[in-house]
Amino acid sequence: MVSTIEWKDGAVMMLDQSRLPLEVKFIECTDYRKVAEGIKKLWIRGAPAIGIAAAMGIALGAQEIKAGSMDDFIEGLEPVMDTMLSTRPTAVNIKWAVARIRKFLSDHKAEPVSTVKLLLIDEARRILEEDIEINKAIGRWGSQFIKDGDTILTHCNAGSLATGGYGTATAPMLIAAQEQGKKIQVIADETRPVLQGARLTAWELMQAGIPVTLITDNTAGALMKKGMIDLAIVGTDRTTRNGDVANKIGTYTVAVLCKEHGIPFYVAAPLSSIDFTMDSGDLIPIEERHADEVTTIWGHRVAPEGVNVINLAFDVTPAKYVTSLFTERGAFKPQDIKKLLRKDVDLESIRLRPL
Ligand code: MRU
Repeated sequence: MVSTIEWKDGAVMMLDQSRLPLEVKFIECTDYRKVAEGIKKLWIRGAPAIGIAAAMGIALGAQEIKAGSMDDFIEGLEPVMDTMLSTRPTAVNIKWAVARIRKFLSDHKAEPVSTVKLLLIDEARRILEEDIEINKAIGRWGSQFIKDGDTILTHCNAGSLATGGYGTATAPMLIAAQEQGKKIQVIADETRPVLQGARLTAWELMQAGIPVTLITDNTAGALMKKGMIDLAIVGTDRTTRNGDVANKIGTYTVAVLCKEHGIPFYVAAPLSSIDFTMDSGDLIPIEERHADEVTTIWGHRVAPEGVNVINLAFDVTPAKYVTSLFTERGAFKPQDIKKLLRKDVDLESIRLRPL
């Protein structure tokens, strides 16, 4: 599978996802501002992937800073970190990556600036490598909830392209199909307005040899009514302490439809996408994007000039619609998510097993 981002020869190489699947083109970023532009313009997108991009952008920005002391170096890095934080507000992974870099800086305060500059590159690369392992762990837990013959609905792209590799929502599918030999198929919502399902999920699942069928977003309910969907798995941009899930606009609709039809609705959520500081999904900042994404499809106008548009990039699914969350530590009920970091909780006692 193509890697969506990597550090190569002193630059951040980003696959331009906005051109997929028609063109596979990489953009070389030698300036942290270009990394930030790439995040904003969706050259790179997907919560874990933009967290990795932010870490790499900070490592890139760090190389420019001329400072004799670590205090001056950290001060010089503040605007770089702020730039990354200002790119996209909903996915918590950017905040998570900045917090991890801050801790890294404080742990290495006694070292020379020149050493820390190099170590920051290693740390950003480590975040990417760890993300792939985390996704595989999510996949191992989540795959237990997939049965031979299942048809799985997914929304947006929470696949390899949205992460360091392997994907979050797609990881259980890949492990079920490729390692456990289960015959599964995937139904991918096209995901308007910018069609991550049609352009990215369909493309990467076809490459992985997983049978995938593309539908318009408004077809999902009809297929559920016909009994054609066994479960849904989606990703998340931010899940709050109470188990509310922010994800691509339309996810809430899918979750409500699942509840109506008695279909399990699962969310693949690495700990980096869980905001343990936020109590409820009502508090999540929801990104609003440009009207052009709705009034045009790939540069072709489909709506009258001047029409009013609401373009929310994400919605929040209340915890009551979420059957369980697949994390790298296991599958849990949404109400148990807040316990995941507690040292006094035996995770085994709250881990869910498939029936
Ligand atoms: O606007 P996008 O394409 O960044 O939105 C991405 C999603 O909503 C994904 O489902 C989410 O980030 C999870 S990715 C593993």
